[in-house]
Amino acid sequence: MKQRKILVTSALPYANGGIHLGHLMEAIQTDIWVRLQKLRGHDCVYVCADDAHGTAIMLSAEAQGIPPEQLIERVNREHRLDYADFLIEFDNFYSTHTQENRELSESIYLALDANGHIARRNINQLFDPDKQLFLADRYITGTCPKCKTADQYGDNCEACGSTYSPSELINPTSAISGATPIEKESEHFFFTLPAFQDMLKTWTRSGTLQEPVANKLSEWLDEGLQEWDISRDAPYFGFEIPAAPGKYFYVWLDAPIGYMASFKNLCQRSDYNFDDYWSADSECEVYHFIGKDIINFHTLFWPAMLSSVGYRTPTAVFAHGFLTVDGTKMSKSRGTFINARTYLKHLNPEYLRYFLAAKLSSGIDDLDLNLEDFAQRVNSDLVGKVVNIASRCAGFIGKGFDGMLSPELDNPQLIETIQSAQQDITEHFDQREFGKAIRLIMALADKANQYINDKQPWVIAKTDRQSAELQAICSTGINAFRLLICYLKPVLPAMATDAEAFLGIEPLMWNDIQKLLLGHRINKFQALMTRVENDKVEAMITASQQEFAAQQIQETKVQSDESGLESEIVLDDFARVDLRVARIITAEHVDGADKLLKLQLDVGLDRNGAALTRTVFSGIKSAYKPEDLVGQLTVLVANLQPRKMKFGVSEGMILAAGPGGEAIWLLQPHSGAEPGMRIS
Ligand code: MSP
Ligand code: ZN
Repeated sequence: MKQRKILVTSALPYANGGIHLGHLMEAIQTDIWVRLQKLRGHDCVYVCADDAHGTAIMLSAEAQGIPPEQLIERVNREHRLDYADFLIEFDNFYSTHTQENRELSESIYLALDANGHIARRNINQLFDPDKQLFLADRYITGTCPKCKTADQYGDNCEACGSTYSPSELINPTSAISGATPIEKESEHFFFTLPAFQDMLKTWTRSGTLQEPVANKLSEWLDEGLQEWDISRDAPYFGFEIPAAPGKYFYVWLDAPIGYMASFKNLCQRSDYNFDDYWSADSECEVYHFIGKDIINFHTLFWPAMLSSVGYRTPTAVFAHGFLTVDGTKMSKSRGTFINARTYLKHLNPEYLRYFLAAKLSSGIDDLDLNLEDFAQRVNSDLVGKVVNIASRCAGFIGKGFDGMLSPELDNPQLIETIQSAQQDITEHFDQREFGKAIRLIMALADKANQYINDKQPWVIAKTDRQSAELQAICSTGINAFRLLICYLKPVLPAMATDAEAFLGIEPLMWNDIQKLLLGHRINKFQALMTRVENDKVEAMITASQQEFAAQQIQETKVQSDESGLESEIVLDDFARVDLRVARIITAEHVDGADKLLKLQLDVGLDRNGAALTRTVFSGIKSAYKPEDLVGQLTVLVANLQPRKMKFGVSEGMILAAGPGGEAIWLLQPHSGAEPGMRIS
């Protein structure tokens, strides 16, 4: 076999947010493919990086009150840990904000310019006069000029679907400062994409792209291409353009160059040679795994730039669809926008790797993570089929034969059947038809289980724990298990490592499929995978929802000004709060609650003259003894929606101030006040 030299990338995640399950779907798809190539003995390198530039990152650092460098460094550490814990095995995970990337971006830009592929001209754009910042479309809101719906973003209306230029919006507003933007002119630099029309027509049809992607691109190519604006004015977080003070490379210019920079950084501390992979006559293969939302950047701008400058173009670009959860787009309020870290607190990363593998194909359709299906799939396939084979056979081998497998198989045909599927399974994995590969593997697992059912080793063991037949049957089962684990190793690397320890063997490689395990001592069996528990899945969803709620509170706090007060409300907002004087009639401890007291309040009389009382649970136990409260006056938020708590329904809240612990003081009206009086 000829060893292939392959360089693989996943798209670079933005450095202003955490890794979520959408990113992971891409990374897992890529990682499985890379692991397969490595197991086959190919020289396959997998690099990625953070995409660290752009306005969004600049603004988010500003909102956190830290320099962008500090933000991207922290996020980089988090991203590395998240990926590592999902067993994504990068050969390098770097950043676009690095010396290597600066040098490569500058040299590529200078070469494009020298080749006459950079045009310069003035354009008009909306500008935020408060922030002194040009506004990208997504930072402008206003009323749709066609249907007059308010609060529409940038250049298209969600209500009527029309598109327009942001300067046509009625009452345009900067989403950053709230100021009314003005039009302002400045010079921009453009990459002359139309010069690559012919090159791209050929390249996109040369087997580099999936069929539907190539078809979509033909439409664009037939309509004619536009020049691509690659500069942004200061303030911007990125690389300044050589000999153009105050002008920066647009983040999407240096982002794909980040693939090269990450690889270059790896070359500096390994035997890999940059030019072997990137020179125009390279014999190595280069593959980009990306989501369908960023196809044009990777299949038009990127190959055109590379070809202008005299680098090689990608061997292929593999696009995938989007991950949805329970049938819809991941939603923060529903708790289905799940961060990598949140998932890891509740569930095993290999559950997700397996589930996605079982669902992935080479197409660009979206993939749904149905949470019931998820639990059911993992439990029935991995626990119920694969691990089950080992757990049914290992005990008999341990007890009756001191862990020793038989010198011969009871059923060599079964094992041959599993071995002879290798070519098809390899082909499916290699073509990114992971779902097909998994279906084949599970069909083989079914065969192995059926064989064990038929032979009923437990019946034989009852009469003779040491019969040679029993040993040969269970050894056949263990051999089937070993082969299935080898096939699943790209998907389940940690489970494979545990299985190798149980089998007492060296790390499996792809060609080990053709070998058998006979006359060999295995170790004591330990559960290799536990079942997905539904309450853990639910806990993960609840946790995601809570994170979102906490984040929203945080954001409103950030929006309040230097005074440190909450953001402004109008008189009507305040008038809706019904504050009443209340007298505490009874106060008591609540069983099992360490912070709460249960209070009965007298709130005067209702319209018909009947006594109005309220039950309120209040977190003041650390500061007050119940007996000291009885008879006291306090202030009740009387029209707060009742809230069901663990200990009962709380019908309002009483007001108190203080940092907590013993230092909490109940607000107390003057003793002349009467229960029921409205406070205004
Ligand atoms: N920074 C750019 C990529 C630059 S590559 C030179 C970017 N970043 S991203 O963080 O928004 O997305 C990174 C990758 O994750 C993209 O390929 C994107 O398609 C993918 N996904 C983001 N959300 C996703 C889903 N919900 N489902 C599947 N993939 C998704 O774009
Ligand atoms: Zn409209």
